[in-house]
Amino acid sequence: MTLGYVGAGNMARALAIGFGEPALFSDSGSGRAAALAELVGGEAVATNSELAKRADVVVLAHKPAQLATIAPELSGAEVVLSLLGGVTLEQVAAAIPGASVTRAMPNTAVAVRKGVTCVCGAEELDALLEAVGRVVRLPERLIDAATAVSGVAPAYVALIAEAWVDAAVGQGIPAAQAAELVSASLSGAAALLEERGMDTLGVRREVTSPGGMTARGLRVLERAGLRSAFSDAAAAVVGSAK
Ligand SMILES: NC(=O)c1ccc[n+]([C@@H]2O[C@H](COP(=O)([O-])OP(=O)(O)OC[C@H]3O[C@@H](n4cnc5c(N)ncnc54)[C@H](OP(=O)(O)O)[C@@H]3O)[C@@H](O)[C@H]2O)c1
Repeated sequence: MTLGYVGAGNMARALAIGFGEPALFSDSGSGRAAALAELVGGEAVATNSELAKRADVVVLAHKPAQLATIAPELSGAEVVLSLLGGVTLEQVAAAIPGASVTRAMPNTAVAVRKGVTCVCGAEELDALLEAVGRVVRLPERLIDAATAVSGVAPAYVALIAEAWVDAAVGQGIPAAQAAELVSASLSGAAALLEERGMDTLGVRREVTSPGGMTARGLRVLERAGLRSAFSDAAAAVVGSAK
């Protein structure tokens, strides 16, 4: 199955690296399509209409606002995977008549096959997306909310990790070891939570002796507004998609 990516930016790159298969790519002249074809195999094509004719699946990996100008170049595409944030299935189907459309909101962890992709619409591409991580089906009305959870996740976790490493360095741990401690802590804690069915309270209680060090640290994070920061950030992301 040949994928054709309209757009060769960050998300196309992450998916193409994750799939690790030759594919077709286009861009608006930056040369990123050729660079990506060089990296994963396949070809940069001169026009979107050529891409639509040759690809089995056309992946919309350009910016959402570009749909109106790009869609007419994709007429005849039969299977479309839209990654466009805030653009509905109905809008894509109307722009590319006759295509079977799947709307997906992946995150960039697909590059290491540990992504999570929220999906609605046609189901024929679910198995394909499972090759690069988990696939979670959601009603379309929740896709913007899911963007605020898993779409943004690599950026959120990178920011948290950076702050955490800085805190460790502030306590005298050399940067390299601080990074190792934080990285291993993140993946270990995630694995533990997963094994315990996301029993967050149970996992927290095991680490938190009454009146102990962890309790003091957690109190500071709560007072600093960790919960409301997450809630406000989700509202900001969802609001910006509307
Ligand atoms: N980044 C994420 O984490 C993420 C997560 C989920 C969904 N998405 C969605 O994925 C889409 C792409 O996001 P991104 O972050 O990858 O954006 P990006 O890095 O800005 O890439 C956009 C790509 O679209 C290309 N493009 C623009 N006009 C084009 C045209 N007429 N024909 C062909 N290609 C064209 C650009 O070409 P040039 O290289 O020539 O500029 C660029 O390669 C967005 O709709 C976004 O909502 C992104």
